[in-house]
Amino acid sequence: MARLILRFLACTLLTATAAGAASPVRILIAYHSRTGNTEKMAAAVREGAASVAGVEIVLRKVAEVTSDDIVKADGIVLGTPVEWGNLSAEAKRFLDRVGEALGKAGTTWGEGRTAAVFCTAGNPSNGQEMARMSAIAAFLGMRFAIVGGVNEDGFGSLGPQAVTGGKPPGVNDRDRAEARRFGERFARLTRQLRTTAAQ
Ligand SMILES: Cc1cc2nc3c(=O)[nH]c(=O)nc-3n(C[C@H](O)[C@H](O)[C@H](O)COP(=O)(O)O)c2cc1C
Repeated sequence: MARLILRFLACTLLTATAAGAASPVRILIAYHSRTGNTEKMAAAVREGAASVAGVEIVLRKVAEVTSDDIVKADGIVLGTPVEWGNLSAEAKRFLDRVGEALGKAGTTWGEGRTAAVFCTAGNPSNGQEMARMSAIAAFLGMRFAIVGGVNEDGFGSLGPQAVTGGKPPGVNDRDRAEARRFGERFARLTRQLRTTAAQ
């Protein structure tokens, strides 16, 4: 009888371990967008991330992200418009909420998790670097590992961005392609980090 119970417990444990190993890598893409440009980039990031096997994506406006979304995420991507030379107040508030949620959940904060940033701006050289660097500094402070981008010219290291005030205005095909490429990279590297951490 005791042997039977032991065998049952061992089977249950093995099944649970296998299920854990197969659980999807969870990526949260949170964005703030007033006029739809950053939202378009977020959709393209999602497309790229979705091309990676074993990944589950949650795409939400920053105001709709729950603490549970934050705590469960293996990787967080934040999209922001540039406002007055920096990230928007709403995007900054989201960063505060990430800190609050992870701080309440335990002591390891963003350890073992990835983070990244993308932005859109009306004009070139008018705050894109500042916006992304500010958010990256906050994520680093919370111990996340930062994932940058690589665009088709081999640049874009701070993460994707689009200049939306051009002619025609808005997000163009090239911007979307960069965002998709970045989404794939982010998901692949997040999966890699989680797999390594589990070993
Ligand atoms: C209040 C406000 C401030 C802005 N400040 C800047 C700025 O400092 N630099 C810039 O390049 N664009 C600036 N813009 C333009 C937006 O960054 C740009 O239109 C962006 O693509 C908007 O994204 P969204 O459509 O996702 O809201 C500003 C827009 C607003 C509404």
